Amino acid sequence: MRGNFSYHNPTKLYFGEDSLNFLKDELKNFGPVVLLNYGSGSAKRNGIYDQVISILKDAGKTVIENPGVMSNPTLEKLNEGVRIAREHKVDLILALGGGSVCDYSKAVSASAYFEGDYWDKFWIRQEQPAAEQRLLPVACVLTMAGTGSEMNAGTVITDAAHHFKAGHVFDSRLMPRFSILNPRFTMTVPENQMKSGIYDIMNHIMEQYFSDFDDNTSDYIAEGLMRSLIYSSRIAVKNPQDYDARSNIMWTATWALNTLIAMGKKEDWMVHMIGHSLGAWTHAPHGFTLASVSMAYYRRAMKNGLPKFVRFAKNVWNISGEGLTDEQIAEEGLEALKDWMLEIGLPLTISELGATAEMIPGITETTVIYPAGYLNLTKADVAEILKESL
Ligand code: NZQ
Ligand code: ZN
Repeated sequence: MRGNFSYHNPTKLYFGEDSLNFLKDELKNFGPVVLLNYGSGSAKRNGIYDQVISILKDAGKTVIENPGVMSNPTLEKLNEGVRIAREHKVDLILALGGGSVCDYSKAVSASAYFEGDYWDKFWIRQEQPAAEQRLLPVACVLTMAGTGSEMNAGTVITDAAHHFKAGHVFDSRLMPRFSILNPRFTMTVPENQMKSGIYDIMNHIMEQYFSDFDDNTSDYIAEGLMRSLIYSSRIAVKNPQDYDARSNIMWTATWALNTLIAMGKKEDWMVHMIGHSLGAWTHAPHGFTLASVSMAYYRRAMKNGLPKFVRFAKNVWNISGEGLTDEQIAEEGLEALKDWMLEIGLPLTISELGATAEMIPGITETTVIYPAGYLNLTKADVAEILKESL
């Protein structure tokens, strides 16, 4: 384990069927005005909104509601949230929803008291808020498993007018103060979003796993998380109401992207960069955008990262490798990944998401590129990967 790092994660988690009971006590730590961000209706339909509102009212909070936070939240919606937070002098931002609402709430927190163009500072120039800048505390009641946003400082916002989806990872001040994870709340997530979340989790782990060659404890943790996810996902797609499977998926999602398995790693993230761009053009669920370009990407990465792909085949997919060359073992590992993706019903082509050959130059143009795990991609490579994924 060769990297130098510091590890700090301040988010307090409450997990399980009783976890919402802890909201009342947590609220005592914050001032009277709560900005409640939520999505486009699911929380009202499944009753979670009513439960949260009643806890907030019992705690004597003034609740400012900001509904309509869409999947893949936009810059326009961020501007609206910033205006509301400033106007009502909010003390706590409570996100009720999936990764989009959690991300959005952190984005509002970072932007509300920044004097200037927050989009340019945080999402274009990728800077951090100054030490003296006021940041509003954020907390999440999570209703969908996938992004890990409940225990990280990531925020992904889309400038829809320019087809540009930009992620920014803030420093740990923007991590939620607490997050409430009740697996029961995820039972009503539509099937396609559940599957999208499952692949998002898998790909978060892979983005961190597929870099470097040193023997690193983070990679052993990553392998355990992948094995658990593969096992539970197979159960969940057959029976979405299986509590053990859904709770394991939710817990795996959190650990897949709360920075732990990135320790000592260079990391990759190019599947996400291409996926984000694809998402800005197609509005497809985030995990589907990642799934649709993965096979073309990892076949390329395998050539430079062969030993790690051999390890992936053996330790994650139980491929014995007897009598096979390293290339053959690595290829069998990728085939096993592909078979699993087909088994759980993920899209393996970008056409399934509505992308066309004509869109490829645009998607390529808005893909952010940097030196990644085992590849140093050019724009021409990105276009090629998209073409192979059609
Ligand atoms: O808006 P509502 O009506 O609530 O419906 C949502 C939404 O349409 C629905 N949903 C959520 N919980 C539900 C439910 N429907 C029924 N019952 C429930 N319990 O599901 C849909 C998708 O929700 P969304 O929050 O958009 O999904 P997800 O959690 O996948 O978040 C996606 C966003 O997170 C970003 C993505 O780019 C995307 O913008 N990411 C954030 C990351 C981070 N913070 O680190 C990393 C990820 O790689 C990702 O980029
Ligand atoms: Zn993701």
